[in-house]
Amino acid sequence: MAASDPWRTLGRGHEDCLARVEHPEYTLLLARREGRPLGFVLLHPRGVAGSPYIAAIAVDEDARGQGIGRLLLERAENWWPEARHIFLCVSSFNDGARLLYQRCGYQVVGELIDYVIEGASEILMHKRLAGR
Ligand SMILES: CC(C)(COP(=O)(O)OP(=O)(O)OC[C@H]1O[C@@H](n2cnc3c(N)ncnc32)[C@H](O)[C@@H]1OP(=O)(O)O)[C@@H](O)C(=O)NCCC(=O)NCCS
Repeated sequence: MAASDPWRTLGRGHEDCLARVEHPEYTLLLARREGRPLGFVLLHPRGVAGSPYIAAIAVDEDARGQGIGRLLLERAENWWPEARHIFLCVSSFNDGARLLYQRCGYQVVGELIDYVIEGASEILMHKRLAGR
């Protein structure tokens, strides 16, 4: 996470990333293949307006483009079966991740201008979870 964008551009170092993934309020789901970790998604159960919030998602650079990001999102969406909505933020310069979220049914509901760094926004996205 610390070695990858968007966190590098956002100025999140290793200690900061570690503190986030180890925070007791958060749930960390790992994707593994033959025991090897390939990606993760970090969730807060009530991060936005009382609904689950995807705080971070990343797939190992060598394993991208194989559907692991999509799978991690699906797991996140089903982690709390009673949840009817889910939110996430994506940095305005992160076109790849934004495409993933759009393809997975997320819609833009807001823009937080200069939220983490000057000159970049955090785009708030929302998905209504099917059948709930
Ligand atoms: C964003 C990220 C998690 C996507 O993971 P992934 O395993 O490569 O994504 P998938 O293979 O599951 O892709 C799912 C869909 O999103 C699209 N997509 C994902 N990343 C994309 C990219 N960089 N450019 C274009 N499309 C992309 C794929 O085309 C695919 O669509 P399709 O199924 O209709 O063909 C991964 O690229 C990553 O770790 N990036 C760095 C960290 C990051 O930006 N995290 C998000 C922070 S908000």
